[in-house]
Order: sequence, then structure tokens, then C-alpha cells
Amino acid sequence: MIRLMTEGDLDAVMEIENASFPQPWSRELMARELSNPISYPFVKTKSLKDGSEVLVGYLIFWLVYGEAHILNIAVRSDLQGSGIGSRLLSFALDFMSKRGVDLISLEVRKSNTTAISIYNRFGFEEVYVRKLYYGDEDAVVMSLNLGVKLEE
Ligand SMILES: CC(C)(COP(=O)(O)OP(=O)(O)OC[C@H]1O[C@@H](n2cnc3c(N)ncnc32)[C@H](O)[C@@H]1OP(=O)(O)O)[C@@H](O)C(=O)NCCC(=O)NCCS
Repeated sequence: MIRLMTEGDLDAVMEIENASFPQPWSRELMARELSNPISYPFVKTKSLKDGSEVLVGYLIFWLVYGEAHILNIAVRSDLQGSGIGSRLLSFALDFMSKRGVDLISLEVRKSNTTAISIYNRFGFEEVYVRKLYYGDEDAVVMSLNLGVKLEE
């Protein structure tokens, strides 16, 4: 199930965040997204046999005037490669498309070839490189145009 992130998700989200990134967001930064009116923080959960729910990944984007920016996506490390990231991305792209988004952008570490190849598969193209965006590494800026293409 994919639903909006709540305050009760923050412990599980921060566990994934800290395990996923060399410079993880702080809990305060993550919590701020919950009340940011332009932010759409979604989580993916899995139901266990006992009926409980476990958080397996999240994706956060901002949506402003027909443009969206993906700020963060991560999947629990023991569950990576099982389609959760792809499902979160296709959910987000569908959500954006239904709200009239034309252009989606994101930054990704140049060395993060796994993420870059997933974004490529969803049609994102590399636009330019932001030198030392992360302090210790360049960012590849990628974008995807969801606008309706005119027939030739
Ligand atoms: C990037 C990330 C969100 C992708 O989520 P995911 O659930 O692992 O991705 P999926 O299972 O949907 O995999 C999509 C593709 O990537 C491949 N893949 C995923 N993880 C992989 C890994 N660790 N090594 C090699 N390939 C991998 C899958 O095989 C799949 O390819 P295919 O469809 O051609 O078989 C996840 O790996 C992650 O959390 N990484 C750490 C955080 C991060 O780097 N976020 C991106 C910041 S911009």
C-alpha cells in the first residue's frame, strides 16, 4: 500500500534514511515535509501475516505550478531490487500526471548508477552536472517531460 507519510512513520523512515545515504536528512528536515503544503511525502508499506504494517520505502516530491521535483527516494536495504522503488516511482509519476505536471526534475549522485539506471528506465534524461552539489560529489540533474507530445 502507498499512502502519505505521517509523524508515526518517522522512526522507520529515519532508519531507512540513515542506512541509505552518506549525508542523510535530519529527522527535523524529514518532519518538516509533513507540514509543507507543496510537499508530497509518500510511504510504501507491506502487511505482515499478523496484520501489522511494516514500512519498506518512501518517496518525497514537491509539486509547484505544473512542475515536480523529486527530493528523496529510498527503500529498506534488505528489500532493494525487489521492485519497491519502481512501484513508488510509477505511483508518483501517475499522481503527478493526473495533477497536470509537465516537467519532473531530480538530482542524483554521479556514482549512484543503480538509481540513474532506474530513472533512465522511467524516461528521465540527464540534463547537466551540478559540480560538487553534495560537497564531496557532483550531482547529475535529470528531468522527464510528461507533457503531451504533438504528433508529427
Ligand atoms: C534507488 C532505490 C530507491 C531503488 O529502489 P529498488 O526498490 O531497489 O528498485 P527496484 O527493485 O524497483 O529496481 C529497479 C531496477 O534496479 C535494479 N536494482 C535495484 N537495486 C539494485 C542493486 N542494489 N544493484 C543492482 N541493481 C539493482 C533492479 O534489478 C531493477 O532493474 P530491472 O527492472 O531491470 O530488473 C534503492 O536502491 C535505494 O533505496 N537506494 C539507496 C537510496 C538511493 O540511492 N536513492 C536514490 C537517491 S537519488
